[in-house]
Amino acid sequence: MHCDSLPGVKLDFAPMEGISCWPLRRVLFEFFPGADRCYTPFIAANSTHSLKTREKKETDPGHNAGIPTIPQVLTNDPGAFLWAAEEMAARGYPEVNFNLGCPSPTVVTHGKGSGMLADPDRLMRFFDAVFEGLEGKDFFRAEPGKPGIRVSVKTRVGMDDEGAAEALAVIFGSFPFSRVIVHPRLRTDYYRGEPRKEIFRLMYGRITLPVAYNGNITTVREFRELVREFPRLESVMIGRGVLMNPALMREIRGGPPLRADELRLAHERLLSLWLSDIPEFSGVIGKMKELWYYLGPGFENAAKPMKRIRKSRTEAEYRAAVSALFDTCPLLPEEERTWRP
Ligand SMILES: Cc1cc2nc3c(=O)[nH]c(=O)nc-3n(C[C@H](O)[C@H](O)[C@H](O)COP(=O)(O)O)c2cc1C
Repeated sequence: MHCDSLPGVKLDFAPMEGISCWPLRRVLFEFFPGADRCYTPFIAANSTHSLKTREKKETDPGHNAGIPTIPQVLTNDPGAFLWAAEEMAARGYPEVNFNLGCPSPTVVTHGKGSGMLADPDRLMRFFDAVFEGLEGKDFFRAEPGKPGIRVSVKTRVGMDDEGAAEALAVIFGSFPFSRVIVHPRLRTDYYRGEPRKEIFRLMYGRITLPVAYNGNITTVREFRELVREFPRLESVMIGRGVLMNPALMREIRGGPPLRADELRLAHERLLSLWLSDIPEFSGVIGKMKELWYYLGPGFENAAKPMKRIRKSRTEAEYRAAVSALFDTCPLLPEEERTWRP
């Protein structure tokens, strides 16, 4: 699906560990169509060459049927990346995405995620090894009727120094990435503050591969301004903006704004999918509460029912609190929402 008003720009739902899991991706596609593609939260590939239970679920083709899904891989081991890419190709995924953005201390201290941006020479050697390895693999080589798996990358603009961006642009341009998704923050920014637009402009200007933008797009107006400013964008990736307003991508395509009745039905469906996935309700409620952190501020006078949702422990308490919210609090119109990521 392309944006009718803005042909050619694709809309991607961002990977978000613990949040953008298969139940949420499925509900978004069923209730609020608008995204062209979804990314899984990262799969941590290591030398054990095995997937954890959650990673198996996220990449189970049955869970993603009908939803263009791109598994994301996090590793600093070329062999582990090749293993993961082959696994994903075997499951039928046409693309894998490489994570160069995760700012979490446990990831960065192991020299993974955005930690890999600290040493551009080493990063170059890493991708040299990856693409050299891929060249020899059948699952990478395109043949008639078999496109071969593609590799895209999602990156920040540096570890703690904007000065690295130029070298990073050269590195990405040296390999056949299908897309370079730039989240224009440093690792030290985490997800806070304004995205560094000028550094994005620099990388956008330098990289001749398809470029995608990601960061703080929460309204149709912000999306329009972005694509006007950067008309060559292949895609725009949105994460928290969709959690705050699940109909955002539909609206970007000229569709109607979010309605409370459809959100209520979508919530019910999400809850039932999570209940089918996680045996303990304590696990399910954690997922739902995390989502309410983003959805809650979109409702008027919701402080009390939101507190009830946060304090709920059992399924009955949780359901009663959510009903109270939907019964008593209207959705705020987009222009009156003050909460932003
Ligand atoms: C809770 C959370 C988990 C995230 N997990 C991932 C992840 O697994 N992989 C990744 O590339 N980015 C991850 N991100 C970053 C998002 O994909 C995105 O880059 C970031 O939220 C900025 O975009 P946004 O302002 O549209 O949300 C995560 C962000 C959040 C808030």
